[in-house]
Amino acid sequence: MNMRAMRAFLKDDLRLTLDFSLSDQNRGVASPPVQKAMRPGQSQVHLPADPCGAYVGRIDLAQALAGRRSHRVWRDGAVGLEELGFLLWAVQGKRKGAGSGSVFRTVPSAGCRHALESYVVINDCPGLQRGLYRYLPLDHSLVLEMAAEPGFTARLHEAVLMQSFVPRAPVVLVWTTIPYRMEWRYMEAAHRVIALDAGHACQNLYLAVQAVGCGTCAVAAFHQQALDEFLGVDGEDEFALYLAPVGKI
Ligand SMILES: Cc1cc2nc3c(=O)[nH]c(=O)nc-3n(C[C@H](O)[C@H](O)[C@H](O)COP(=O)(O)O)c2cc1C
Repeated sequence: MNMRAMRAFLKDDLRLTLDFSLSDQNRGVASPPVQKAMRPGQSQVHLPADPCGAYVGRIDLAQALAGRRSHRVWRDGAVGLEELGFLLWAVQGKRKGAGSGSVFRTVPSAGCRHALESYVVINDCPGLQRGLYRYLPLDHSLVLEMAAEPGFTARLHEAVLMQSFVPRAPVVLVWTTIPYRMEWRYMEAAHRVIALDAGHACQNLYLAVQAVGCGTCAVAAFHQQALDEFLGVDGEDEFALYLAPVGKI
């Protein structure tokens, strides 16, 4: 692997070489959906309304910043449905806008393209059966992607390279990217900003978990193919990028 090429990925030199008039956006191709559609037969589980109301004033921002740290040990205890709704709203929730236009969220995103999808492994959340869900930010709801079956936890454990604090958590957030959402506007300059966007989501989680007595740990080390297969994504037009277990501390 060429180290110079990898360093170059972090630089913004590409912007000077690309002809953005050739982007799909500028060629008149319709904007891709801002939220991945549900499959036929899937139904939504609506999360409690007003996701942030109950948590206003729960923690002081300066204290949350000072107390931010990674946790890898969980005490017994489920993550409540209202708590989960708050956390998902904090990492990707809708602030304003809808339809086919821009949807502004609790996190910034280059060009407001929001090329992330949030999957949620539920091990212990009263009201939800164990399994793999996906968050629908426009609807503030979850869709069940796969009910837990024998081997569910072992597959996740292997996919995160045996980092056992991950499958032990009552909830695990896994962010994928659908790169075309960003490529549609930024072409080959999309990928660097997708990675930058993911950091915002996880940092919001680090801060928000403190309002619900939970902790988290960013995880970027995993087996790409195994995690993509676990999530049921194709590994090309959508693939895993980042994950974070959440548990009581
Ligand atoms: C991009 C990124 C990737 C990380 N990947 C992992 C990981 O795969 N496994 C892990 O245990 N911790 C991981 N961490 C957590 C770091 O080890 C942790 O942030 C660091 O040790 C500093 O500790 P602190 O978060 O408590 O300040 C990651 C953190 C970041 C920001």
